[in-house]
Amino acid sequence: MEEALNKQVNAEFYSAYLYLAMAAYFESIDLAGCAKWMYAQTQEEMVHGMKIYDFINERGGRVKLEAIEAPQVEWESPLAVFEHAYSHEQHVTSLINDLMNLAIEEKDHATQIFLQWFVTEQVEEEASANEVVQKLKLAGASSGGLFMVDRELGQRQMPIPVPQKD
Ligand code: FEO
Repeated sequence: MEEALNKQVNAEFYSAYLYLAMAAYFESIDLAGCAKWMYAQTQEEMVHGMKIYDFINERGGRVKLEAIEAPQVEWESPLAVFEHAYSHEQHVTSLINDLMNLAIEEKDHATQIFLQWFVTEQVEEEASANEVVQKLKLAGASSGGLFMVDRELGQRQMPIPVPQKD
């Protein structure tokens, strides 16, 4: 279980890295709102990673950090980015489900209760990425629609307050 939880710490930090790469893509095409959404998502993933990190320590385990894989850095459109984010969250859900299955198999009740938070969180994670996919599909090829979606995504609050640029 400890080894599997360590792998998930890596997966959460990889997610943070992937969303940061998506933020960089949006910065490069001047969609500041989409970039802001991705910065907030990056922070959330770091919080997820740290939650598992803390739990391993709390249970008397040993956190072992591994190399984080390089993420994809280019996409063909804003829609392609959010479709990737949505499919990535579906993948993370399957990782959480595998962890839960292992905790059940090992009759590790404390880890099962701990993982319940992640099971619930994944429902929200999938829904919020898919919501943006649907919005971008509605906006279609119109630059006005994209502008409105970008403005809306820029309203997302940062989970961890950061100093404002200028
Ligand atoms: Fe850590 Fe986006 O799930």
